Amino acid sequence: MWAKQKCLASERGGRPEGDFVPGQQKLYRACACGKHFRRSQSFSVTGDSDGSSFISKETWNEKDYDRVSLAETSLLNKLIRKSLVESNHQVEVLQRDPSSPLFSVKTFEELHLKTELLQGIYGMGFNRPSKIQETALPLMLADPPQNLIAQSQSGTGKTAAFVLAMLSRINPGDQFPQCLCLSPTFELAVQTGHVVEKMGKFCVNIRVTYAIRGNRIPRGTVIEEQIVIGTPGTLLDWCFKLHFLDVKKIKVFVLDEADVMIDKQNFLDQSVRIQRTLSPDCQMLLFSATFEDPVLQFAQRIVPEPNIIKLRREELTLSNIRQYYFECENKEDKFRALCNIYGSITIGQAIIFCQTRRNAKWLYFALANDGHQVSLLSGELTVEQRAELIQQFRDGKYKVLITTNVCARGIDVKQVTVVVNFTLPTKMTREPDFETYLHRIGRAGRFGKKGLAFNMVERHNLPLMFAIQDHFKILIKRLDPEDMEALEKIED
Ligand SMILES: Nc1ncnc2c1ncn2[C@@H]1O[C@H](COP(=O)(O)OP(=O)(O)OP(=O)(O)O)[C@@H](O)[C@H]1O
Ligand SMILES: [Mg+2]
Repeated sequence: MWAKQKCLASERGGRPEGDFVPGQQKLYRACACGKHFRRSQSFSVTGDSDGSSFISKETWNEKDYDRVSLAETSLLNKLIRKSLVESNHQVEVLQRDPSSPLFSVKTFEELHLKTELLQGIYGMGFNRPSKIQETALPLMLADPPQNLIAQSQSGTGKTAAFVLAMLSRINPGDQFPQCLCLSPTFELAVQTGHVVEKMGKFCVNIRVTYAIRGNRIPRGTVIEEQIVIGTPGTLLDWCFKLHFLDVKKIKVFVLDEADVMIDKQNFLDQSVRIQRTLSPDCQMLLFSATFEDPVLQFAQRIVPEPNIIKLRREELTLSNIRQYYFECENKEDKFRALCNIYGSITIGQAIIFCQTRRNAKWLYFALANDGHQVSLLSGELTVEQRAELIQQFRDGKYKVLITTNVCARGIDVKQVTVVVNFTLPTKMTREPDFETYLHRIGRAGRFGKKGLAFNMVERHNLPLMFAIQDHFKILIKRLDPEDMEALEKIED
């Protein structure tokens, strides 16, 4: 529990030296007791208060908005993911030939894989196929090869599935590219390459190369690696400008992360240009974490005669999260309410969401200056730094993570019991952003646990909150930040 008035740092251990505070370390020096840190430059916690016009001012300030691309989110998810994301839903299959039998496997042995591949899979700690793999793998490994479009939520085993398919189709005796895999970014291509390397660890003579910017290969080279992973533009150059490989010899063509790919129009055109030149019996596989209409349309354009597999997303629910709001005057008032919550209830770990970087930074300093163990995660950090910070938070190094929407999706920290919306999520248009609310608050009630959510709402923004309430058909109870008794009762 955070007590309210004393030097909290002495109870909490303060902000330990060496904490990762991007670009801000210089602002701190140890306080009198030698253990804690204080600002050493003049910095006013209340200095840039703009009271009730706060939201409107911030929402207009576009450059301050913390936006993350789908590719960044996808990479962050991979860097922080520890294991398979299980699904409770059934796989839906749309077969190209509905009269052919549909196989589904419960074990990897049933797939009759080469021994070295089974070794690779077990070496990665996989015991049995994931839900999507149960159906996708027999389809992908069937002879003659069949095309596939597969959608399932991030972390459910798509990449592992197609890597297995690529590795099992390769003839290691042939020293030329046999599998092409398109990825939306350099970093995501490298991630896929890591999976190939791990799964193919026992496959002698199978190698991978990367068609990504910066991987300069002298003109006239003939590539010998059997797997080429790359981004569409560079891969297009490799195939048709530099003639590093013979596209007609490609047996498996994979387009991964189609939902991320369609974010960039020229990637679609480039992917289609590569696909059009492939041999008619090349197997085409496309994967996506989501299946909005544009993704599906693109998928059907690029994959002829596909089998389609879908696994519905796990829905986030707000039903096991108790939600409250505080009516506040301005951000200083919100800050006081926040301190009162911490003074009244026992909190495991908490995530506090702000709408802008500027606001998150302000709150970070306000809390850190008050002696709290907090960390700040915003889009100013690289994806790798964000992943590192989230890991430290998971390890319990910090109790409070202050963040912007960079962190609204996909981060599961089991210990998080409290989510605070220091600012309600709004779109650029200043309308309530329901989806982001769901994703933010959904962080608190993961794994069937009960969670608590607090919304700090300035009076003029109350309509936003009521709109959220109506949208989700939920009750967000009003709390008086000064009523400590009521606050203490929340825990019961
Ligand atoms: N059958 C399995 N058993 C155990 N773990 C698995 C299995 N298949 C995949 N995994 C692991 O689960 C995690 C997610 O797998 P993978 O990256 O293949 O998912 P994905 O659906 O491609 O996710 P994304 O959409 O984010 O790319 C990885 O850590 C992977 O090693
Ligand atoms: Mg993947």
